[in-house]
Amino acid sequence: MCGIIGVTVSPQCQQRNAVPLLLEGLKRLEYRGYDSAGVALIMCSNSSCDVKVYKAKGKVDEVIERFSLREKYSLTCLGHTRWATHGPPSDTNAHPHVDCRGYIAVVHNGIIKNYAMLKQVLSEHGHRFRSETDTEVVAHLLEEFLREGLGMLEAMRKLLEVLEGSFALAVLYSGTPNRVYFARRESPLYAAVGDCISAVSSDIPSLLHISRLVVPIEDDEYGYVEPGHLSLYDRRGEPVDWRRRAKIVTWSIEEASKGGYPHYMLKEIFEQPRALYETLIGLIEDPALEEAAELLVNARRVFVTGAGTSYHATLVFKHYITGMAGIVPIDFIASEHPEYMAAVSHEDVLIAVSQSGETTDTLQAVREAKKRGVKIIAVTNVIGSTLSRLADVTLYTRAGPEIGVAATKTFLTQVLTLQLLAARVACKLGVIDKSDFESIVEKLSSAREAARSAERLNPHIKALAVILSKAQSMFVLGRLLGAHLAREAALKIKEISYVHAEAYPAGESKHGPIALVEEGFPVIFVGTPGVEKKLYSNMEEMKARGAKVIVVGVDSYEDAPADYKVLVGSYDETLAPYAIMPPLQLLAYHMAVMLGYDPDKPRNLAKTVTVE
Ligand code: F6R
Repeated sequence: MCGIIGVTVSPQCQQRNAVPLLLEGLKRLEYRGYDSAGVALIMCSNSSCDVKVYKAKGKVDEVIERFSLREKYSLTCLGHTRWATHGPPSDTNAHPHVDCRGYIAVVHNGIIKNYAMLKQVLSEHGHRFRSETDTEVVAHLLEEFLREGLGMLEAMRKLLEVLEGSFALAVLYSGTPNRVYFARRESPLYAAVGDCISAVSSDIPSLLHISRLVVPIEDDEYGYVEPGHLSLYDRRGEPVDWRRRAKIVTWSIEEASKGGYPHYMLKEIFEQPRALYETLIGLIEDPALEEAAELLVNARRVFVTGAGTSYHATLVFKHYITGMAGIVPIDFIASEHPEYMAAVSHEDVLIAVSQSGETTDTLQAVREAKKRGVKIIAVTNVIGSTLSRLADVTLYTRAGPEIGVAATKTFLTQVLTLQLLAARVACKLGVIDKSDFESIVEKLSSAREAARSAERLNPHIKALAVILSKAQSMFVLGRLLGAHLAREAALKIKEISYVHAEAYPAGESKHGPIALVEEGFPVIFVGTPGVEKKLYSNMEEMKARGAKVIVVGVDSYEDAPADYKVLVGSYDETLAPYAIMPPLQLLAYHMAVMLGYDPDKPRNLAKTVTVE
């Protein structure tokens, strides 16, 4: 999993150097991987053009400094941020990779499954490999195709025939110095076309400073960008009319930057009120909501899947749709999909939730379900993402770009989207009437007020983080809706503060986990409405064993037998997640910062997991 970008500008352009644009895009792509980085620049003299590569282990800024990249000049260049899959992070394994002669440079996101076989064949043809990566075979394959007499564009097409696996590729060739070639299968890739400038990249935010006219590249398409121009072809070599697919993206660049906060995660936690509002407004006007509800009411069975935080959103959905519409969906973690596939049929519907729309586990579950005729409803934050293109109906969360690796605003906007869908289904089934539905929508418009709990409670949460950041381990417990939110809270704490946090349904905690509790062991209770009495008993059980009991909950937990209480306001079940989750996200954030970790870049994790 990596980020790739290629930029080309015309010498007549006001911005006559592509390098600063490339580096800005590369910085924005860093969330996709940050163990190494590199660039390739085409540098021309009067007589010839050369490809120069600068790459090393380390973060983008370190690589920029090390090679003084800000002082370089080039009209056409490539960049890469790496998250290692084949070969450990190292200077040699960093991208770009080049062919034997150094005429071709390649950056890649994805996994070439048949690289070992290709490497062997190419080695027999005299190619010498420098790295342990799967990517390097691409540079040598292209060299081989050129040697066979193909032109570079034709060689790119041939890659689609030969390569197995997933890839978004960007390629420079010294023989065509104003072009960035590309090809795509399964890994995300976008092109941006301006007046005298063009680019390709793994995501949209990294292109916004180049052009707002963005074109999603589909599976098995290839082509090249030249300044102000895109040439796109399908796998048969037929030209593709990309203008019909092009979109003007209205996200501000500011939205994609930190906006004055020390970390993206903090900014994104505080952005939740606005994100929730925009998601709601967007959805109630979107015919896709009705289409998705129609699919669900006609379904024999409803399956729901996702990974990590997105899976937790599916659990919250299960809670709501069961209560509202009497439909009990079958939830599964995306990577566990094979266990469910034998049971699905064309009468079923699968709801797949993924903020990025690119998580391999989720896409695989969707592809397998589709093969069996299952209808797919996607919930995603990324317009034109692979998931949205696989789905029959897509519900977009409108959270804006989320850069922090830990999902925050995308989680709550997923919850809101799914909650609204549950209400729509209940209405269509006649369980609630139109006016009930409208009052739910009205109530959900207060989700943004509820999510302001983060601002109000921040000092309180910081104080709590001082205590909890000293812990080695803790439990996060809740009941029903609270049990699902507890899972999400525990994931946030684990992934960014590296403190072990284990979530359990509170009632289940006495069937084993309680054995770990000793003097001072922290236990956080997620206080959702309606389960106060039972949670109080669980709190007493924990206290009796010396636990330090904390409650983060709605105001009805005022009398909780807890050592520390964070009360988020008075909310019922419909709004409770929006008020309770932001303080819990903040808790994880402050713990990470206090322990000296960068919450935006947790170790061993990446924003979009495009490997199995
Ligand atoms: C946790 C987190 C991950 C993602 C998971 C799925 O904070 O961000 O657990 O939720 O990798 O990602 P998407 O939603 O892009 O499919």
